[in-house]
Amino acid sequence: MKPEQVLREIAAEVEACTRCPLHVGRRRAVPGEGSPTAEIMLVGEAPGFYESVAGRPFVGPAGQLLDRLLEQIGLSRQQVFITNLVKCRPPRNRDPEPEEVAACEPYLDRQIRTIQPKIIVTLGRHSLHKFVPHAKIGQVHGQPIRHQGLLIVPMYHPAAALRAYSMHQALEEDFARLPQFLQQAETLSEPPPDQDIAEDDSDDDSPPAPQQLSLF
Ligand code: URA
Ligand code: SF4
Repeated sequence: MKPEQVLREIAAEVEACTRCPLHVGRRRAVPGEGSPTAEIMLVGEAPGFYESVAGRPFVGPAGQLLDRLLEQIGLSRQQVFITNLVKCRPPRNRDPEPEEVAACEPYLDRQIRTIQPKIIVTLGRHSLHKFVPHAKIGQVHGQPIRHQGLLIVPMYHPAAALRAYSMHQALEEDFARLPQFLQQAETLSEPPPDQDIAEDDSDDDSPPAPQQLSLF
């Protein structure tokens, strides 16, 4: 199946989903949108009011900032994929509960497997903690982190940036470095050479041991 078909199927499942209490009273679920072959995937926290009305991610004030940030590095929404950790709006925009995150996670995991982005930008600490639990956003924002074959670039949430100028500045700076991270993504996603050496000190090209044994 083509990636766009798989993404459409995931979206249909999300729209009908009743796996967690957030489906009760939801206006619209927000599966996410963008290119099925995006190199960059942006993962926010959960839909807010405007998103739950439109059924689309990041269309309120935080979304307008996100659009500007993308535009500044020459990208449009159509070139990236934008989604959230949790696909339905929590009441009064409260933080999603761990059980809600856990119930919703398989949708995001399938979106990631389908799109296979080079970089995942986490927006805010909730989506950062999916990939790197306990990391402190204030310490790690703007620094690429390798995680299970994925390259995570943690960033502040645009809604937080709208409230605090220092975060706004940091977010702009981190975004401005995204094109550079993208160029480096292939090398950054390889383990550093010293890890290779530590794990395997044979430097010839002989086949791995199990294959050799099978010759006897
Ligand atoms: N905040 C989020 O985390 N996601 C949205 O889609 C909108 C606002
Ligand atoms: Fe389903 Fe996710 Fe919505 Fe919960 S938040 S009902 S798991 S789509």
